[in-house]
Amino acid sequence: MSGTTTPEAGDLAGVRAAVLEGLGKDPRLAGEVAPLVRDFRRLMMTYKFGIDEVMTKITVLRDEFRHIHEYNPIEHAGSRLKSLESILAKARRKGVPLTPEGVRAQMFDIAGVRVTCSFVSDIYRVRDMLVGQRDLTVLEERDYIAHPKGNGYKSLHLIVQVPVFLSDRVEDVVVEIQLRTIAMDFWASLEHKIYYKYEREVPRHLTDALKLAADVAATLDTTMERIHDEVRDLDGGAETGPSGADTLATREAIETFIRTAQVTDEVFHDRRRDG
Ligand code: GTP
Ligand code: MG
Repeated sequence: MSGTTTPEAGDLAGVRAAVLEGLGKDPRLAGEVAPLVRDFRRLMMTYKFGIDEVMTKITVLRDEFRHIHEYNPIEHAGSRLKSLESILAKARRKGVPLTPEGVRAQMFDIAGVRVTCSFVSDIYRVRDMLVGQRDLTVLEERDYIAHPKGNGYKSLHLIVQVPVFLSDRVEDVVVEIQLRTIAMDFWASLEHKIYYKYEREVPRHLTDALKLAADVAATLDTTMERIHDEVRDLDGGAETGPSGADTLATREAIETFIRTAQVTDEVFHDRRRDG
């Protein structure tokens, strides 16, 4: 996810073409398309403002948290606005009416924000800080960390609503927020590339390998967090340093990680030999 984009005045023709495409290329409808195009451009702009509102909240949390705790739970935050072409294609695929009202009521991923955290506990901490804000309403939460997808995908998804104050009204804008660790993000971007490269028909040995890699990523997350906790306890001024239990837990986490990585490597090589 990189910078936010919004349709500029110059690409009105492109927008019109996309809407026409969405309407089934029927030139008889051309006269009716102009107001639709105008409505959609306004709609897209509103979603972009929704992203801006959420990004501001995240920047505030990050900077303030760093200031108070000398620690940063947010590694990176990015956003993307779904292109009009993608909106129209998805609307058509899912039978969503091609109107701003239809899109607004039935598509929840037009505005997307992705937050990458160092540790799993940070994900829930950032979630709690966001959800606690009174102008942000959570419409839906999907916890793919507690319940990973079959392919190994992990992230915490929030569908939220934020008010955007326009010149003549207030509009509640829906934004999808994905929260992940760096390891989960690394996994998801590779899986995404593979999925598209193979046009959704990924060979079995690769889906198996991805599933195993997801396990390694998860144990890496646990291990890194253990190490971090032990060091933080040390920094916390405890005169005795980390407890024996702390050290033992860290050592166990590291051993689990090494075992998982070794087994994964062996299984991957076996599977590749077999087919
Ligand atoms: P869509 O109709 O595709 O938006 O799915 P959904 O509405 O059922 O929501 P879901 O929470 O499953 O997925 C929403 C978004 O999460 C996707 O657009 C991706 O960005 C991300 N995502 C979900 N599943 C996967 C996955 O298996 N792999 C990767 N790489 N990303 C995923
Ligand atoms: Mg979705």
